[in-house]
Amino acid sequence: MRRRLGRECLYVPSCRLGLYVALRHWCPPGGRVLMSPVNDDVIFFVVLAAGLRPVQAPLDPHDGSLDPAAVPDALWPRLSAVLTTNLYGNPDPAPELADRCARSNIPLIEDAAHAIGSVSAGRPVGTFGQASVFSLSKHTAAKAGGFLTIADPGLRDALTTARDELLAPRRTGAELAYWARPYAEAAVRGLRLAPTARAALRLLGQQERDDIRMPLRPDDLGRAVSVAPNLAAFHAWARVDMHDYRASHGRTRLARVTRKLTRLDTVLDAHRAGTRTLLATEWARPKPGPVQPLFRVPLLVEDRDAARAVLARARVTVGYLYDPPLDDYAGGAFTDPSPAPAAARWFAQHALPIDPLKAERTIAVLRAAGIRPARGGPAGD
Ligand SMILES: Cc1ncc(COP(=O)(O)O)c(C=O)c1O
Repeated sequence: MRRRLGRECLYVPSCRLGLYVALRHWCPPGGRVLMSPVNDDVIFFVVLAAGLRPVQAPLDPHDGSLDPAAVPDALWPRLSAVLTTNLYGNPDPAPELADRCARSNIPLIEDAAHAIGSVSAGRPVGTFGQASVFSLSKHTAAKAGGFLTIADPGLRDALTTARDELLAPRRTGAELAYWARPYAEAAVRGLRLAPTARAALRLLGQQERDDIRMPLRPDDLGRAVSVAPNLAAFHAWARVDMHDYRASHGRTRLARVTRKLTRLDTVLDAHRAGTRTLLATEWARPKPGPVQPLFRVPLLVEDRDAARAVLARARVTVGYLYDPPLDDYAGGAFTDPSPAPAAARWFAQHALPIDPLKAERTIAVLRAAGIRPARGGPAGD
């Protein structure tokens, strides 16, 4: 990763932990962070855990990227940082945001979890901000690991110490479970037991989400916010989909993560090819520029839930949906709302994020079902 990005990289057990370390280092508690409302709820909870107040940003309705031109001038002096999302791998306008942050004397922190391999203005996403974070659970599918990267190599020791203080001790059972999981999942898929297995995991308290967003539990969340910054107080929210996100990684995990990472270029080529295929369909709204190796391609369909149901029947699971936007999900008690929410609502409602590795099959299922492209764009704002 250091070679790819040309900057210092620190291994972290998960992207979310890397993000927590970055937010704690760069943002004084009580500060406000501009972020995308169409984002995984876990990122929202990590921002809250760092003792910060999320401010939801206006978005471009075509790809869910941040729209800096729609951020009111009066908001900039009130911000402590900007956090990009690079949703599904589509780059946020990093050069403009970096320039705006520099003028406001605040850090730009890039979440490149979905955007390993994406470029913006000819440079890799994740090389514009003071810090960026990557997840090895997405393209590389290692289900563990990530990187915190930094522009100033002089901060490496301080951030290493901050990371190490947050690591949970290694547990042999957890290492074994990590090793066994892909085999167990393959067996479950082979036996067509996936829905039963998901129900069992929910009963065992291993799965927080029933559907798109996890339950907010506002009373408990309010109590956690009152003691933030404090990652432990947010454990129930921060651990979603990855219960050992703070685990110190042993040899088993590191060996698998390393093996997956060495195949990254091949994986990126496959994502680029699938992205090209999906962007040529009637449901896509491609932007000019090079084809990115997207993590998911957000097709824009008229009836997202119908399209998702049709795909589920064909055993194509659609995940990484972020609907409703975070300001509608969490409300004013926990976030400043977007000054222009219509575009985010429209995008969240119509985006159908498709795995480019399943492009051909997905297109065939959608065409056979007569799924219609989304019409028009957001009204309002
Ligand atoms: C945009 C985004 N950032 C960060 C993360 C967290 O990554 P990790 O699971 O490696 O902590 C996710 C998880 O899905 C995500 O969707």
